Order: sequence, then C-alpha cells, then structure tokens
Amino acid sequence: MDEMSILMHVCTLVVKTLTFPLQLAELLGVCRLYKRVFPALMDRLSFAYNQKMSEKKREMFRDLMRFSSRDEPLRLLEVGCGSGANFQHYPSGCKITCTDPNAHFKDYLQKSMDKNDHLVYENFVVAPGEDLRVVEDNSMDVVVCTLVLCSVKNTPKVIQEVKRVLRPGGAFFFLEHVEADPSTWLYFFQHVFHPLMYYFVDGCETTRATWKHIEAAGFSDLQLRHFQAPVFSLIRPHIVGYGVK
Ligand SMILES: C[S@@+](CC[C@H](N)C(=O)[O-])C[C@H]1O[C@@H](n2cnc3c(N)ncnc32)[C@H](O)[C@@H]1O
Repeated sequence: MDEMSILMHVCTLVVKTLTFPLQLAELLGVCRLYKRVFPALMDRLSFAYNQKMSEKKREMFRDLMRFSSRDEPLRLLEVGCGSGANFQHYPSGCKITCTDPNAHFKDYLQKSMDKNDHLVYENFVVAPGEDLRVVEDNSMDVVVCTLVLCSVKNTPKVIQEVKRVLRPGGAFFFLEHVEADPSTWLYFFQHVFHPLMYYFVDGCETTRATWKHIEAAGFSDLQLRHFQAPVFSLIRPHIVGYGVK
C-alpha cells in the first residue's frame, strides 16, 4: 500500500469515527425517521441538479421512442423515481409506472405528475429495485434509473430485475454518478467523505464503480459513456447511456 492509500484510509477512519453517532442511530432504527425528511431535501437538490443537467437529460432521452413497439405508446418503468424529476423529458402519451422504496416521495411525485399531464400514469409502486415482482416479465419497452444505483443495496440484483421486466429489444436507460479515477484527489475525497454522504444523502455511495455491473449484465447492445457533470465535485464523475435487452 502506498503512502497516499494509507493517508486515505486514516482520514476515512477519522470521518467514520466522527459519524459513529449516526451509525448507532441507524442500528437503532432512528434513521428511518430521516426517510420522512429526505424527500423534501431531495426535491430541492434535484431541482438544482436538473437545471444543470437539463441539456444532458434532453440528449439522453431523445431516442426513447425508438424503443416503442408497433406504434403503441411507450411503456416506461422508472425505478427509484423520487420526486419525478425526469417526467418532463418523456414523450407525450408515454405510459409510466414508477417505483420507489420511500413512500414519503408520494406528495412530491404527485406534484410532478400534475405538472406533466402529457404522460399517462399507470401505477406508483412502493418497492426497492431489487424486488420488482409487481411488474410482469417482458412488459416494459424502457426502464429508467437516474441517480439510483449509488444507493441500492444490490446493484446486480436491480439490473437482473430490470432485464426481467424489459421486453426483448427494450432498453435500460441510466444516468449515474460513479467513482473517480483512482489516481485523482477526487477519488481520495470521495472515499474520505463517503461516510458523511452515506448518512446525509440516504445511503448514497460516492465510491461505486457502477459501470462494471452494467457492463457485466450481458446487454446485447451497450452504449455507455463516462463524463464529468457540472455539479457538486464529489459526484462529478458520471456515466450515461443505455443497454438493449
Ligand atoms: C438521489 S435520489 C434520485 C431520485 C430520482 N431518480 C432523480 O433522478 O431525481 C435516489 C432515489 O433512489 C431511491 N432508492 C434508494 N434505494 C433504492 C432501491 N433499493 N431501489 C430503488 N430505489 C431506491 C431513493 O428512495 C431515492 O428516491
């Protein structure tokens, strides 16, 4: 281990120790209360994030209609929808099912639904991405995840569920922040501040190499790009793209 790695591990340990009361609170189940407050925080954060990322999202979702089947309305499942920040980018008439494990997003989600009346809302399901059993096999043209795979408990399981519900030829669209290049200071700080981000942003991990799971998932066509997003530095490294089942 080189000197830099040792320093990184020591600093991470210090931050971890400082967050010990939060670890204890999580063990005692107190953090569940935070789930009530988090949607309000996320609503504000996602407003700022989406303003900076609106061009990138427009570009990302431009090709959605390519995946509709037989001129039918596009059937789209959003996993970890939060407050519905992506709705404005979906094509008119698109049939939306959304899921999120945090039921307290519902009021914020409803506001986004009211604002985006060009879409048809089929269902809001309170469920984690690891268990989408309420959604039938091969029933979706498109599945979307944005800023979700940083917080899920089991990324391969979520991707497996995504592939199960997609029809053959359907596509998984993703936009996620990821771990930085290990040779950079940003990587160092992502690891050091990881415990703080984890507790204050509801389980968000800045140190995930999410692209490796997507690449290993066996999509027939995978378009995946790394880029630097114009946002808060700890979450600047992003991946964007889609994988076809
Ligand atoms: C940073 S927010 C992003 C919300 C929204 N996708 C967006 O782009 O604004 C992360 C979301 O992931 C959800 N989430 C956390 N764990 C999850 C899981 N295991 N499966 C699905 N969603 C999850 C959270 O409840 C939250 O809504």
